[in-house]
Amino acid sequence: MSIRLSSGEEIPIEMHKTRMVQKIRLVPVEERLKAMEEAGYNTFLLKTKDIFLDMLTDSGVNAMSDNQFAGMMNADDAYAGSMTFYEFAKAVEDVLGYKHVMNAHQGRAAEHLIAKVFAKPGGVVPTNYHFTTTKAHIELQGMQVLEIYYDDALKTESTNQFKGNMDPSKLKNIIKKYGKDKIGFVRMEATTNLIGGQPFSMKNLREIRQICNENQLMMVLDGSLLCENAYLIMQREKGYENKTVAEIVKEMCSVPDLYYMSGRKNTSVRGGMIATNNEKLFEQIKPWLPVYEGFITYGGMSMREIGAMSVGVREMVDPGVAGCSVEQIKYFVNTLSKAGIPVVTPPGGLACHLDAMKFLPHVPQSQYPAGALAAALYIASGIRTMERGTVSMDRDKDGKDVFADVELTRIAVPRRVYTVSHIDYAIDRIQWLYKHRSLVKGLKFVSEPPVLRFFFGRLTALDNWGTNLRDAYKKEMGSA
Ligand code: F0G
Repeated sequence: MSIRLSSGEEIPIEMHKTRMVQKIRLVPVEERLKAMEEAGYNTFLLKTKDIFLDMLTDSGVNAMSDNQFAGMMNADDAYAGSMTFYEFAKAVEDVLGYKHVMNAHQGRAAEHLIAKVFAKPGGVVPTNYHFTTTKAHIELQGMQVLEIYYDDALKTESTNQFKGNMDPSKLKNIIKKYGKDKIGFVRMEATTNLIGGQPFSMKNLREIRQICNENQLMMVLDGSLLCENAYLIMQREKGYENKTVAEIVKEMCSVPDLYYMSGRKNTSVRGGMIATNNEKLFEQIKPWLPVYEGFITYGGMSMREIGAMSVGVREMVDPGVAGCSVEQIKYFVNTLSKAGIPVVTPPGGLACHLDAMKFLPHVPQSQYPAGALAAALYIASGIRTMERGTVSMDRDKDGKDVFADVELTRIAVPRRVYTVSHIDYAIDRIQWLYKHRSLVKGLKFVSEPPVLRFFFGRLTALDNWGTNLRDAYKKEMGSA
């Protein structure tokens, strides 16, 4: 939520109070450089003892509510038939409107099952934009991902309020080109993670549904960031300004054939789910659940997590929860944008994204500007962020880099974890870094795995730029 001050300024406001805390530490800049070098210039390989604000992701790091903890304590441990699962299923039916649900241990496990069961080897999966794990699972089943966004979706600075929309005319062309039998399913991602957490509109979701109906295509909704998309529809789409997040979420969920989500984001729990009102689809997936995840009443999750998730599903549509990170991100993005820092606009769900190609125009894509910027920001602030650019793309079959459409350094905002003064600190250090951006050079891979290389790949700083950045920081700011 946000609140208007008497000065007229609007600020994000937390609709919760802190009842338990975890101490964090800001290590001196010398140690930050050492930690970054030991981590091979890959923020995934840092240790949290060296991290001040952990803004790598909003996944699995959100604050749970008191009632969610109570839900864990009350959980009914059983391999089969746990009443906690049935409470969860009731919450899913009440909030999302789905009669059939199964858990999976996280979002990518749901993607694995869906890609496996509905695979059309040699076929394609049109999507408004891929996510890394989604693409990996679709490709592992011998299909290709096709990104069907509007032309301006990749323009980082924009006033288009719904850059997550799928372009209906491009989808029609794809159907003509490949034939509907070659299409595994059509996938919509609620706030497109990799292009800046940008939402789609309800109108667009319905238009795409119509095309799916006309061509008997299955529509799958990835609702990992469902409530943020709904909150942004409430704020931006005509006709939805007086609806509640809960009403919008129900309406969104009524559109696809199949729904899945990572629970690690919206429900603040380490888990996932697949849900539908189509019993036939559900029965097609169900036999595979015990093979890969677990029995139908636990699906790879602990009953305690399911207990917390069933409360989380009910709480996630509260505007104080759904809008918590959205409003912090809006403040973050708008403040940086006003200061002339290249960020993705309009603000979306999930994160504030720096446009690394504009921030570091002297670093070519072959030297991974988004990765370099993530490393530099850590050295200058102790804040851990994530590369979402070419390092996050695997090489092609000839071993060549596949340049990402956009080079983003993602500063995720976990739900109910950080305060506005933390965001102000981040804004200040990003501005400092922007003034000293010429000190930051590119990166080079030292070692990399064959798939999802961004997780374990190790890089090195060209011309040892980390040392120059550390020295400049120390001279002006001191050690902290
Ligand atoms: N779909 C979307 C849109 C996601 O953002 C994620 C995860 C997944 C699927 C996979 O879910 O992690 O529970 O297996 N996104 C995280 C992130 C990892 O940092 O953005 P998962």
